[in-house]
Amino acid sequence: ALKITIIGGGSTYTPEIIEGFINRLDELPVKELWLVDCEAGWEKTQVVAALVRRMVAKVGNPFTVHLTLDRQAALAQADYVCTQFRVGLIPARINDERTALKYDMIGQETNGVGGFAKAQRTIPVILDICREMERLCPDAWLINFTNPSGMVTEAVLKHTQIKVVGLCNVPVLTEKGVEEMLEAKPGECQIQVAGLNHFIYVRHAWHQGQDKLPELLERVAQDPGALRPKNIPPFKWDPDQIKNLGVIPCCYHRYYYLPDDIMQHELEHERREGTRGEVVARLEEQLLERYKDPNLDIKPPELAQRGGTYYSDAACELISAIHNDKRTIMHVNVRNNGAIKELPADCAVEVSCVITGNGPVPLNVEPFANPAIVGLLRLMKAFEELTVDAAVTGDYGTALQALTLNPMVRKGPVSRQVLDELLEINAPYLPQY
Ligand code: G6P
Ligand code: MN
Repeated sequence: ALKITIIGGGSTYTPEIIEGFINRLDELPVKELWLVDCEAGWEKTQVVAALVRRMVAKVGNPFTVHLTLDRQAALAQADYVCTQFRVGLIPARINDERTALKYDMIGQETNGVGGFAKAQRTIPVILDICREMERLCPDAWLINFTNPSGMVTEAVLKHTQIKVVGLCNVPVLTEKGVEEMLEAKPGECQIQVAGLNHFIYVRHAWHQGQDKLPELLERVAQDPGALRPKNIPPFKWDPDQIKNLGVIPCCYHRYYYLPDDIMQHELEHERREGTRGEVVARLEEQLLERYKDPNLDIKPPELAQRGGTYYSDAACELISAIHNDKRTIMHVNVRNNGAIKELPADCAVEVSCVITGNGPVPLNVEPFANPAIVGLLRLMKAFEELTVDAAVTGDYGTALQALTLNPMVRKGPVSRQVLDELLEINAPYLPQY
């Protein structure tokens, strides 16, 4: 029987993960579920927890639900720990977005200066959690989906003893999109991806024993189609550029291949309805109102308006695949170990893996032949390595180097200005600086 701990249990995404556990009761013997959160936003946490209790009661209370501020009690003897916390909550995300926009830069929470700032806030906390896990549940698996998921995973891999897997829903959405484009039934296609979090390329897309990548590449070059997640507004790639890549980029590559277009879009979005963080804050309020309904005892469909839909279900599936040694293929963030030959062995990569009882085993994949890909991939990994390093050490020079490498960050004194301002507004969350 399993003890599962969710850190950031007060997240409005929590009903999805609970639904995932409820749907898997016959394969995943959850006995205790612990929701941990902190004082900030405790009211919200209680609303979410009350809904969770109703969802669990509806199916006859197959496991107990514990709500606590005491992280150590929640971690003691846990079998799986899921992290979905947001340091500084949504207001910190909005601050990043607004600071970035002020300097004509991208403040999105995983890309550009936004991703950098979120990593600085998040990594000290995940390392604290791992120190506690080393004492209280050293054999537990850590399933992280706190963003920036790849960099957070890399920090844990490099600086702790904890077994960790990082998750993102982009590969899930990509696989579903491929199936839709090929008019296949769910589960009929097998994709293979490789790259970094929010920076993956589809290397293969098998259907009925054939690799449909060439056909899909032609089509995606004209229109991202079903491969575009709902939270990324419509756009078109430059077809010649995409065909030349030879593999299919994910939609977050738009930030690198079409930076002016995305900047333009973020500015317009901000003028129309505020930053994404501001939209999300309003969405959260509506969701919480909905959650307060004492008759609601299922995950409300409105939750699908959030970009992170399917994350939590992937977490449940991952836990089940490890627990049951399923040996199914999932696309997760793990230690590279040569899966991507162009990158260091000890860094985190997002690749297709067989999920065994001993954790994910990356599938091999041919080298990225095209320098257009290798160059950007190495650059982004160097940015990530420096960002993680800065988050651990609080070294200002390292932070500046990281930002300077990021293609979305403006160079020179303005990099320093934006860095100083980000460090200042985030000061309460940056013990390392
Ligand atoms: C995507 C990404 C997530 C990100 C989410 C943002 O799904 O994979 O990493 O958290 O979008 O969604 P939101 O609704 O918070 O803007
Ligand atoms: Mn993601």
